[in-house]
Amino acid sequence: MVTTTYRDAYGRSLKQPAEFWLEAANRVTWSSAPEKALDSGRAPLYGWFPDAVLNTSFNALDRHVLAGRGEQEALIYDSAMLGSQRRYTYAELTELVARFAGVLRQQGVGKGDRVVIYMPMIPEAVVAMLAAARLGAVHSVVFGGFAPKELAARIRDAAPVAVVTASGGIEPSRRVEYLPAVAEALELAGVPDTPVLVKDREGFAASAADFRGWLDWDTEMATAIPAGPVDVSATDPLYILYTSGTTGAPKGVVRDNGGHAVALAWSMENIYDVGPGDVMWTASDVGWVVGHSYIVYGPLIAGATTVLYEGKPVGTPDAGAFWRVIQDHKVNVLFTAPTALRAIRRADPEAKLLAGYDTSSLKTLFAAGERLDTDTYHWAAGTLGVPVVDHWWQTETGWAICANPRGLEPLPIKAGSPSVPMPGFDLRIVDGAGEEVAGGEEGNIVLGLPLPPGTLTTLWRNDDRYVSSYLQAFDGVYATGDSGYRDDDGYLFVMGRTDDIINVAGHRLSTGSMEQVIGQHPAVAECAVIGVSDPLKGQHASGYVVLKSGVQMADTVLAQELIALVRRDIGPVADFKNVTVVDALPKTRSGKILRKTMRQIADGEEYVIPSTIEDAGVIDQLMGVLRPTGNSDGAPSMPAGAS
Ligand code: COA
Ligand code: AMP
Repeated sequence: MVTTTYRDAYGRSLKQPAEFWLEAANRVTWSSAPEKALDSGRAPLYGWFPDAVLNTSFNALDRHVLAGRGEQEALIYDSAMLGSQRRYTYAELTELVARFAGVLRQQGVGKGDRVVIYMPMIPEAVVAMLAAARLGAVHSVVFGGFAPKELAARIRDAAPVAVVTASGGIEPSRRVEYLPAVAEALELAGVPDTPVLVKDREGFAASAADFRGWLDWDTEMATAIPAGPVDVSATDPLYILYTSGTTGAPKGVVRDNGGHAVALAWSMENIYDVGPGDVMWTASDVGWVVGHSYIVYGPLIAGATTVLYEGKPVGTPDAGAFWRVIQDHKVNVLFTAPTALRAIRRADPEAKLLAGYDTSSLKTLFAAGERLDTDTYHWAAGTLGVPVVDHWWQTETGWAICANPRGLEPLPIKAGSPSVPMPGFDLRIVDGAGEEVAGGEEGNIVLGLPLPPGTLTTLWRNDDRYVSSYLQAFDGVYATGDSGYRDDDGYLFVMGRTDDIINVAGHRLSTGSMEQVIGQHPAVAECAVIGVSDPLKGQHASGYVVLKSGVQMADTVLAQELIALVRRDIGPVADFKNVTVVDALPKTRSGKILRKTMRQIADGEEYVIPSTIEDAGVIDQLMGVLRPTGNSDGAPSMPAGAS
């Protein structure tokens, strides 16, 4: 049966999942094709295509060469930072990946071993990921904006056989030296002798030669013996990607090989409408899930051309940077975060710079990472004159939970909504007790089990944490941690997180882990960090601290020290720049800090002071601090019995 409409596809994916996904699996080249779709033997942990065998790197590279498309461009590296471009055909990229796989093998990396990759946006980052996959090894890419301590936490958990890095990354204001950070992280993790491979870049202070035993990428590549793709089981892990949880310890999201390849191949065709000959540019970073799925694996599995952009939406050199890249590489599909669009709009409100470029190749603009606010949606749609598609997903799911399937059946776009659930995502909205709410009513967004292929299979070596983090809040379903509602047409509207995760410039951060860092300062008695609305970055973190009694310290000095501490321990990516010293924090009688109420006040939303508040006077004292502009929207609504 040929699926023709979204409704057909979605209905079939839930009613006949095995048939639906086995058919989708035809897009992948298997060493041994699946006959069985789902393994429920370890429910609530599931595995897709348990009897199948494949190699993901082969699917992303070799098979396109074997199909006669070796001369087609696979990867275009565009560095706005260096003002340079480089192009790689499928044949060239395959050769590089095979060679680097040989380098990794020489360092003892084999099937199932972990390789940590801490790299800026350079082609070698993509090569390293695909080379690990080629060996059946498991990569774990760490975003360059994380500090050594965060890198160490990931190294400790993943226990890599090798680390791959580069001299550093280039930010508009500075060069970020990676090598001292890697050395410090290995030391902190207690594994200083782990083999390290370094791609040398010009203009950085340190190189591999400065560290005992570290190896230079180019030297090793020159003598490497290319390695062929190693067969793995579809259920074997392809990568671990750490993401913020509600505690300080990041969660190691595990992605399998088979389900991932099938889901991404389906999404490229049916959501993004991208195939061989098309150019997709995802303006994210390989350190995030969006980069994994749609800079690296998705476009390459689909046989398309992917653009790897080292630069910013503004300031490199101006707000026309995105339009320049679209023109230079004839980009058909652009995928970016709303914050990037807001940054461009702020710098060039009327998009005057657009007139200087030919962007006629662009068919669709996709946005994710945070909600696409309606203002930015209308601006982008009006400016570019192409469909602007919001889609909602998470590191855990690996691909869109809700989207507008442009390739399958373009549905009407509604501003403010990421549209409708994708196949296999049995989306429901439930109240605190897990009961489904009526249409239009806001609640917790949950997903029925099993989740479709491509989603997380567990947390790295921690099935218990996977179950307790996602599967226990509501019986028998996966809790997304987001709240929202569905309208009469079944379109979802995502309202925000229900936990302490915040989204700053499309980067997912945990306020809990910032509180842990701040709490270490000897002057701090207690603290709360909340995510406050930010016109550019969506949210920013704001810290409120209470001093220990007897501490004599200027507020500004303390603030500077706390900002430096968060930067040192979490990294610049936390973008933590606001600290206020207060007399007390609002708490319940059981001592729980009322962070939600604080955030609602700061955002000018209506708020409810819980009846369990210990001292309602604290809220009055905090009003001026939380809402310094005197925003009078929203008003307290006092429940009966409030003290
Ligand atoms: N390595 C080291 N440091 C990094 C980094 C990296 N890879 N990425 C960001 N940083 C640093 C920045 O230099 C900045 O440091 P500073 O405090 O010294 O200035 C800090 O982290 C915060 O960076 P950022 O959040 O990027 O803010 P910005 O003001 O430099 O830029 C935007 C604002 C909107 C232009 C930028 O955030 C952006 O392009 N966002 C898009 C994000 C995105 O694509 N997310 C992917 C999710 S789909
Ligand atoms: P990450 O795991 O970093 O991709 O962050 C996932 C979280 O970002 C989600 O749980 C949402 O809170 C938020 N998010 C991502 N995309 C969207 C979107 N399109 N609309 C609303 N929220 C989003």
